[in-house]
Amino acid sequence: MTRRIYQSFIMGWRWPLILSVLAVLTGLYLSGTFSDPPTPPPLGDGWWGRGDRAKAPKADESIRKFSISISNDTINDLKTRLRNTRHFEGLEGTKFHYGVRPEYMQTVVKYWLNKYDFKAQEKYFNKYNHYRTNIEGLDIHFVHVKPTLKPGQKSKPLLISHGWPGSFYEFYKILPLLTDPVNNGGTAEDIFEVICPSIPGYGYSEASHKTGMTAHAVARIFGKLMSRLGHDRYYVQGGDWGSTITIIMGLLIPEHVKGLHINMIAAFTPIPQLIIGSYFPSLFLPAEEHHKVWPAIPKFFDMLLESGYLHIQLTKPDTIGHSLTDSPVGLAAYILEKFSTATNATWRDLEDGGLNDGWQIDDLLNNIMVYWMNGNMASAMRFYKENAQLFIDDINRCQVKVPSGVADFPGETMNQPETWARYRYINLLQYNSMPRGGHFAALEEPQLLAEDIRLFVRKVETIQ
Ligand SMILES: *[C@@H]1O[C@H](CO)[C@@H](O)[C@H](O)[C@H]1NC(C)=O
Ligand SMILES: *[C@@H]1O[C@H](CO)[C@@H](O)[C@H](O)[C@H]1NC(C)=O
Repeated sequence: MTRRIYQSFIMGWRWPLILSVLAVLTGLYLSGTFSDPPTPPPLGDGWWGRGDRAKAPKADESIRKFSISISNDTINDLKTRLRNTRHFEGLEGTKFHYGVRPEYMQTVVKYWLNKYDFKAQEKYFNKYNHYRTNIEGLDIHFVHVKPTLKPGQKSKPLLISHGWPGSFYEFYKILPLLTDPVNNGGTAEDIFEVICPSIPGYGYSEASHKTGMTAHAVARIFGKLMSRLGHDRYYVQGGDWGSTITIIMGLLIPEHVKGLHINMIAAFTPIPQLIIGSYFPSLFLPAEEHHKVWPAIPKFFDMLLESGYLHIQLTKPDTIGHSLTDSPVGLAAYILEKFSTATNATWRDLEDGGLNDGWQIDDLLNNIMVYWMNGNMASAMRFYKENAQLFIDDINRCQVKVPSGVADFPGETMNQPETWARYRYINLLQYNSMPRGGHFAALEEPQLLAEDIRLFVRKVETIQ
């Protein structure tokens, strides 16, 4: 219905609209292509602590280990809120079409209250070591897994970045594959030392107290973290915002980045190709890539239907932040919608949004618990507003020169086809279309993603 309204509204204006959009965008695009790609901006520096920097106490820059604790107070408070949930009735005949179905949320609340084992999950959270260290005035959290090495064996450092609404928890299943490859389908040369930091305002990283915490700033902070850990040359990997951070690290500090691997590739879309290609697709892309961008109009409407959250978070994140910080069921529904549709868009047509078969409920709740325990959904959402400029920033036209690899999972709708990716990634060593999996690939398909990272890194190592 919503789609039909959008459609009839816009279709009435189709030709004038398309022609004027085409004219404006062609002009914009051409003015970009006639100039050389810009050089990346300077690295810069920042300080994001509370209050006046001159009066702030000297930061403790040591690396401090800590354990995650789910206290009884946290559990009791959460359970009280869950017991007091005000549920509502879903519409007859709808599945996940109006958002997360109320009847499905009742089953989540029941499980969370009665079956979710808080103490067992606390233990699981502490399966890997957690640390914090102060960078640019903020305590930055990271998971750090150092592999056990045989004499003479060397591991490769790898930083993996999460996005929204994910967290460091997304990497719990891929960590053993990367740090103990011999027992997990790899070879001795595939061994990594892995660092999974939390973006400021996410997980156990302190939120910025100042405006302007952009992906650029986070890329610099993560680079400083790697230097502090003694790594001069390393690999970077990421999806969602993590891919943006990863790419910006490749642009700002290429001397430190041996290679970057991403599972979401938001390059610039060449709009004239997109429009003209709606009629003559083979002018621009090989046949097997047509389905990734065309038919453009339904894909555009689908994007509109699924991106309401984006507009809220780009503009007024704190307003909805109050609800999501105060209500566990509200927080869970907001996050679960993404784990349904961003994994597989057809799951909107299922009673449970595909979540029962597609995911383990404990994994979904653990990721939600990371937000709940830290009360930081609002600061996490602010990352969109701080990065609004990115949509039009020149940095999007900077060419990525470090060796790059892309894993294109079929459920990931944001991806660019390889042909267009090559305009920007001039050293693209591999672009693999994955057999299955979606936006949260590390947690959903850890084996596939790990194998793609291994393949990529082996290629980089042979050319260096
Ligand atoms: C937390 O609750 C559990 C189970 O009710 C109890 O065994 C434990 O002693 C409590 N811990 C603290 C620190 O009060
Ligand atoms: C999405 O889910 C449907 C139904 O469960 C399945 O048939 C389809 O292959 C999935 N698509 C992707 C891209 O995984």
